[in-house]
Amino acid sequence: MIRKKLIAGNWKMNKTSSDAVALVSEIVAAVGRATDVDVVVCPPFTSLESVFKVIDGSTVKLGAQNLHPEASGAYTGETSAAMLRALFASYVIVGHSERRTYFAESDTFINQKVLAALKAQLKPILCVGETLGERESGSTLKVVQTQLEGALEGVSKDLATSVVLAYEPVWAIGTGKVATTEQAQEVHAFIRGLLTKLFGAATSGKMRILYGGSMKPANAAELLAQKDIDGGLIGGASLESRSFVDLVKAAAAAK
Ligand code: PGA
Repeated sequence: MIRKKLIAGNWKMNKTSSDAVALVSEIVAAVGRATDVDVVVCPPFTSLESVFKVIDGSTVKLGAQNLHPEASGAYTGETSAAMLRALFASYVIVGHSERRTYFAESDTFINQKVLAALKAQLKPILCVGETLGERESGSTLKVVQTQLEGALEGVSKDLATSVVLAYEPVWAIGTGKVATTEQAQEVHAFIRGLLTKLFGAATSGKMRILYGGSMKPANAAELLAQKDIDGGLIGGASLESRSFVDLVKAAAAAK
């Protein structure tokens, strides 16, 4: 398998800095030397620095949950790609459905973030996915295509392999309702096809497509065994070391 599996924890707006240190210390103790799976933790901005001190020297990598596309300036409350790099972040989540919904982020704005991240050598974890209404009306693939093409506009073939995709059906996020393996694999294969059209087969074959939405140790093995599912973006189950570590182990076993 040319694509190394990736398990990323999206901690969302959870954990103070000391809680974050406690959690990541347990993760590092359990899987901090893993080389067969890429492990990424994405704490809130307030814990990036303290979490990095714990993972430094291990194989666990740091990700942020958001960035602003501008390099600097009058954007109160925002954080630039360079600021994240200075805290040793390697990844950044972009286009998460919670940001699309609660902060009205458009595909154009998300595209600017993807380009800004890549310019700063941050790997974007680009999230796409349909709502329940969109799935029920049969427009899942159309929605995913629009989001994906919009967000990847202007990304060169050379940089495309630094982009990680995450298919996250909105109706499965934090709801306990996981997509069936068939539902997930269908969309993952569709995404791979779109990436092939954009960047060619050699490049798309190297790009990782994560599944996200109520992924847990109990359902991970089946999802991770699918041909086009290259890992997971984990919300709820990443807030506790045991379930997160079990997910990393499931990804290692699925190789
Ligand atoms: P969940 O969240 O695992 O809690 O469903 C996934 C995500 O929002 O990235």
